[in-house]
Amino acid sequence: MPNRISFAGKGGTGKSTLSALMVNYLLDRELKPILAVDADPNANLNELLGEKVTITLGEIKEELRKSVPDSMARYDYVEMRLHQAIIEANGYDLIVMGQPEGPGCYCAAHSFLAQALEKLMRSYQYLVIDNEAGMEHLSRLNLLEMEHLIIVSDASYRGIITVERIAELIRSLNIKVEHLWMVVNRCPDNFPRQLSDLAQEIANRQNLKLLAFLPEDPQVLKFEALRIPVFQWGKTVLKEASYSAFQQLF
Ligand SMILES: Nc1ncnc2c1ncn2[C@@H]1O[C@H](COP(=O)(O)OP(=O)(O)OP(=O)(O)O)[C@@H](O)[C@H]1O
Ligand SMILES: [Mg+2]
Repeated sequence: MPNRISFAGKGGTGKSTLSALMVNYLLDRELKPILAVDADPNANLNELLGEKVTITLGEIKEELRKSVPDSMARYDYVEMRLHQAIIEANGYDLIVMGQPEGPGCYCAAHSFLAQALEKLMRSYQYLVIDNEAGMEHLSRLNLLEMEHLIIVSDASYRGIITVERIAELIRSLNIKVEHLWMVVNRCPDNFPRQLSDLAQEIANRQNLKLLAFLPEDPQVLKFEALRIPVFQWGKTVLKEASYSAFQQLF
């Protein structure tokens, strides 16, 4: 079974940034093969990785709703389209889920796609999954078992409290997670002791492993604005800090 590493957490906490840094980390450590999965409908992981999206799985689903060529067995066709959606990047692959289907569309083609996706995912040793803020799509994706799930929080009281709710939600969705982590991102230099204590308290109560308090790094905003992919960030404060945190996983 591949190592599935998934990032969850409320909006804007740093899930995509940390997903991209995880891909970079795995590559640097030569831990391969890697599939990065952008499971957020408002995909932007590709930008952090410096890749252009050609076709999303959502678009393929739309297509399948309309027609499948007669000449080809349906499963083979779906699998072929899925393979065309894989972006072969430098040392890893990327797939973008895009918009989920509307309600009431569970035709055979869609279950073929789910099947083909599962088969595809099994062929990678490392899966890095960037999620949207909600958790529901994990069940849509059939991602109900994973090795590492990292709940990302910002450095605020409300952010840290939300981690507890997400941990409870994960349990209620019956997602089996071998290692459930918590990371507090964007911590300023003078991060208050009360907040780190609160994070520790929630981690203990929810049986989470506290992965790290990652620093606020002004360079990240600059790189984002200039659309510089993580691979070209050099030894920035956040990259260094996240790498030492990720060592606890692999
Ligand atoms: N440690 C950090 N220091 C400074 N800025 C950061 C840090 N981590 C993330 N950011 C910035 O915070 C913003 C949100 O980050 P990101 O897009 O990774 O969050 P997200 O959780 O994926 O958001 P969404 O829920 O919208 O998908 C971005 O502008 C990013 O550059
Ligand atoms: Mg994101």
